[in-house]
Amino acid sequence: MENVAPGGGRTSSMVNIDEASRSGNTGNPLEKRLLGKVALVTGGSRGIGKAIAARLAALGAAVAICGRNEVKLQETRSGLETSGARAFAMKADVTSPREIAALVSKTEEQLGSINILVNNAGIGMFGAVQEKTERDWDLVMNTNLKSVFLVCREVVPRMMAAKKGDIINISSLAGKNVFAGGGLYCATKWGLQGLSGCMAEDLRGHGIRVSVICPGSVATEFGGRGPKDAAKVLQAEDVAHAVAMVLTQGPQSFISEVQLRPVAKP
Ligand SMILES: NC(=O)c1ccc[n+]([C@@H]2O[C@H](COP(=O)([O-])OP(=O)(O)OC[C@H]3O[C@@H](n4cnc5c(N)ncnc54)[C@H](OP(=O)(O)O)[C@@H]3O)[C@@H](O)[C@H]2O)c1
Repeated sequence: MENVAPGGGRTSSMVNIDEASRSGNTGNPLEKRLLGKVALVTGGSRGIGKAIAARLAALGAAVAICGRNEVKLQETRSGLETSGARAFAMKADVTSPREIAALVSKTEEQLGSINILVNNAGIGMFGAVQEKTERDWDLVMNTNLKSVFLVCREVVPRMMAAKKGDIINISSLAGKNVFAGGGLYCATKWGLQGLSGCMAEDLRGHGIRVSVICPGSVATEFGGRGPKDAAKVLQAEDVAHAVAMVLTQGPQSFISEVQLRPVAKP
């Protein structure tokens, strides 16, 4: 796998899958290290999830994505197929156990048994705790944390039967640190750190590797915070690169946690 400096010269948060699969920032497309694998990436329609889906496809995996916006989903699926991958997209809200169950069984029907699960879907919600409603709390908790429990509950028994699998949870440096206005979001990501670590211990004996990736600020539409200075934040492809690194680790070991920072100081 090539070494690319984080943020290596990219200026846009948009991920062009065709360009991504040709560029050096997705790994050597000839090196199909994930050929024959099936990956499910939640929130794979845009932002970080889209970059992860493109990278896994470039490495040879068949890729399923979900999200709530059907148009965006089908656009991204079509881009993945144009790059030569087998792809499947399904509208599914990760806060709904019923929609998750349907997503997992449809993915297996369309692409085969899921070997790689990337729990990426998430929302940003910021502001002082006293200004937030119970509805805000439930929304951010259910989307960022409960969803991981719900998706894993569907996928893990299948991986256990196969005695192997990789689960990567996209957390955040906000899961390691605190900041003003971060109460609800940090609570979800600190929770995800604990959930990921415990699941790693539960599942390693079953041949299932659970890893957590903690990026700093990434240039996406996330949290409605507007455009970021692209030179000072991570790019979605940097997170995709970390996912590829975790997945191509030798089979007898696993990388339990990755902390990812831009070289330039914010
Ligand atoms: N951007 C950052 O600075 C940053 C830093 C560290 C960690 N992260 C984490 O990275 C992950 C991805 O963030 P991003 O920056 O790529 O955000 P984004 O650009 O807003 O993309 C979020 C993705 O998640 C999907 N999604 C949101 N709610 C969903 C739901 N209820 N059900 C299904 N899909 C849902 C969205 O699709 P729909 O809206 O169509 O559903 C979209 O595909 C999140 O977990 C976030 O916490 C982000």
